[in-house]
Amino acid sequence: MVRSAKARTALSSTSDPLRLAILISGRGSNMATIARECLERRINARVAVVISNKPGVAGLPTAQQMGLRTQVVPSSGVGREDFEKALTATLDEHAPDLVILAGFMRVLTAPFVRHYSGRMINIHPSLLPKYTGLHTHQRVLDAGDTEHGATVHFVTPELDGGPLILQSRVPVKTADSEATLAARVQATEHVIYPRVIAWIADKRLDWNGGRPLLDGKHLTQPVVEDFP
Ligand code: GAR
Repeated sequence: MVRSAKARTALSSTSDPLRLAILISGRGSNMATIARECLERRINARVAVVISNKPGVAGLPTAQQMGLRTQVVPSSGVGREDFEKALTATLDEHAPDLVILAGFMRVLTAPFVRHYSGRMINIHPSLLPKYTGLHTHQRVLDAGDTEHGATVHFVTPELDGGPLILQSRVPVKTADSEATLAARVQATEHVIYPRVIAWIADKRLDWNGGRPLLDGKHLTQPVVEDFP
């Protein structure tokens, strides 16, 4: 079935598998976890394309080995406008229902974000709204925080600022280094990111014009899950 991208203003309203486009810039462990969940039919979705803005990153061969289609849309040495024009063209060729930012380390402009309004989500390694931006694990250690985590949220033009959906919360341990803390948080990302995608695929979660609804209730704050 060919579905018109124009007709889809938000998430797909059919019960066909959700078409996912996953954007990466590096290792791709979240991408691989999500793709595995789809391939093993634990999520009613299929990965239409994996796009990297960097050639040569580890996530690309990982995706190819899983039988996924990959494309590189280089951002280096290209103006922001040209990059986003190329990225939009590549994405729209695959008519995604949902665009998933999975370690995609490029700031996106408001027009680009608006084009995918309500159908783009991100995972960020902090308990948002704390620690937007980079180096979150080290900043948590420097601040002496006792807890940390990751957040899945809808993407809006404000950096790491869209409506929060689901958070994993982990303890910060006295012996933690940046690497041990990052590993603890990343393990939880592989649980919460597929869960949110399954909620969307099962139509339990809806953007609802920017006031997300989960199981018919407004999410005024994120769902929080504790991990050891
Ligand atoms: C993840 O930890 C993700 O939270 C983070 O990049 C990592 C990518 O890992 N994203 C951001 O920092 C976005 N602001 P992966 O490539 O192995 O999935």
